[in-house]
Amino acid sequence: MNDNRLIASLIHIDGISEEEILSLLTQPKDLGYADVALPCFRFAKALRRSPVDIANALAEEISKDLPPFLLSCTALNGYLNFKFSREDMAKQTLLTVLKQGDDYGASEIGKGKTICIDYSSVNIAKPFHIGHLSSTVIGGALSRIFKKLGYNVVGINHLGDWGTQFGKMIVAYKKWGDNADVEKGGVKALHKLYVKFHQEAEKDESLNDLGREYFKRIEDGDPESLALFERFKEVSLKEANRVYDRLGITFESYNGESFYNDKMQPVLDLLKERGLLVDSEGAKVVNVGDDMPPCLLVRSDGATLYATRDLAAAYYRKNTYDFDKCLYVVAYQQNLHFRQVFKVIELLGEPWAKDLEHIAFGMVSLADGTMSSRQGKVVYLEDVLNSAVQKAKEIIYQKSPDLENKDEIAEQVGVGAVIFGALQNNRIKDITFSYDKVLNFDGETCPYVQYTHARANSLLEKAGEFDGAKADFSALENAHELVSAIASFGDAIKAAADKREPSIVTRLAVDVAEMFNKYYIDNRILNAEQGVKEARLLLTFAVKQVLKNALSLLGIAAPNKM
Ligand code: ARG
Repeated sequence: MNDNRLIASLIHIDGISEEEILSLLTQPKDLGYADVALPCFRFAKALRRSPVDIANALAEEISKDLPPFLLSCTALNGYLNFKFSREDMAKQTLLTVLKQGDDYGASEIGKGKTICIDYSSVNIAKPFHIGHLSSTVIGGALSRIFKKLGYNVVGINHLGDWGTQFGKMIVAYKKWGDNADVEKGGVKALHKLYVKFHQEAEKDESLNDLGREYFKRIEDGDPESLALFERFKEVSLKEANRVYDRLGITFESYNGESFYNDKMQPVLDLLKERGLLVDSEGAKVVNVGDDMPPCLLVRSDGATLYATRDLAAAYYRKNTYDFDKCLYVVAYQQNLHFRQVFKVIELLGEPWAKDLEHIAFGMVSLADGTMSSRQGKVVYLEDVLNSAVQKAKEIIYQKSPDLENKDEIAEQVGVGAVIFGALQNNRIKDITFSYDKVLNFDGETCPYVQYTHARANSLLEKAGEFDGAKADFSALENAHELVSAIASFGDAIKAAADKREPSIVTRLAVDVAEMFNKYYIDNRILNAEQGVKEARLLLTFAVKQVLKNALSLLGIAAPNKM
């Protein structure tokens, strides 16, 4: 909560930082005693006084000069208890939202700091499948969250565009494919060729050698092979960008694995110089400790690996962006890979090794078994978006037949539901994705939040212009929890950034929506008496604004009508 920070700043205890005090502040279950309390037991040892004494002394000190938003500061049994003036808090919070509008929740704590976020990182000529959903939307949300806090964010799509598979693709294309097919079928056509290659290679081993030979040609810059490789890349990116557009995602860099082709050798040389690169059955590895297998960097045939390119990429990013943090938003299956790569950089003595962070997340599978990837069928993310939009359309045509731009709203609701559904759990959890669940208008879902936003909007439209200066904030005593949630938006954004956890923002949006809907049932707004009406309208405005800002951080539209 925002007020917690205000409170922490009032409490001065020798040798204890404001941050520590902030972390100890609690909200008592029984709000009758206090809105916020500080247990003083932890300080007893350091101060050589009893907790009761400490709390008493602090209460006396703070009460001498009580700020306006506090009603009282008292001590009880070693607890320091604060009670807010709900009226002042409501006034201060709602007027701040009104003033800051779309900027509400922003801060400058990240000013001057750079954070690289490696996310989505799709593979060229392979389906942009549902497995990339989480990386894409978690990375996108974290980018916006850090930007909102003033950080300089470098979003990087570390494309999977290197490896023998591209040699195989060329062989398959030359044997069985043609331009018209790829033009029409896009990545699906490319993927089909790839699958065919593997079927044929089972029967004819020599195809694999041919594939390797063609990859060598790409590496050596043979114009024909390179042109085909670039063509595959273009086709794949065109499709990926279609999805990114719908998800509201943009990148600062598309430097993928191929970009590091000529940047690996210097790192390998450095490792050799330090005596860290050792031979192992013809291959070159770095021993990264007893708890992990060695990190393989050069195969016995001289080929480099995924890890080799990640090492080169880390150096390149540090040199180019001088990041304060570099995050890798990648599924937990790659835990070992990142532990190995980070360890190699640590062994090289780079102080910034500690700034590399793997932001892991769980698996997404579809509840609807017909599209299970386990049955060998690939679930294209674009198809998932299309299905969600189609279902949203059915609901909207039925629920709001008079709505003007139903198709546009269906796109916003359907896509939003998919994004929100992928973000709303702790990221490390595996999720089973179900259309019915994410599109349930009455659940803890995106449509529910969007619908509440639209409801707040229509209320404000009906009210027309109103004079906020007439608001009687004492009328909002019974909306204290809602006001507190609105006040805590900025802290929720900071916590989401600290923990790299966008679900903190989805949680707050759902909470605000739920509290407002309840408030709306229990309290008349439009025909309340003067003063009360203005206060409630200001509250409605703040709800609408916070929901809009929260959704926009997640990359989701907030339609005014639904
Ligand atoms: N392309 C990889 C995949 O689809 C993810 C790359 C993640 N980023 C990285 N720097 N390794 O699994």
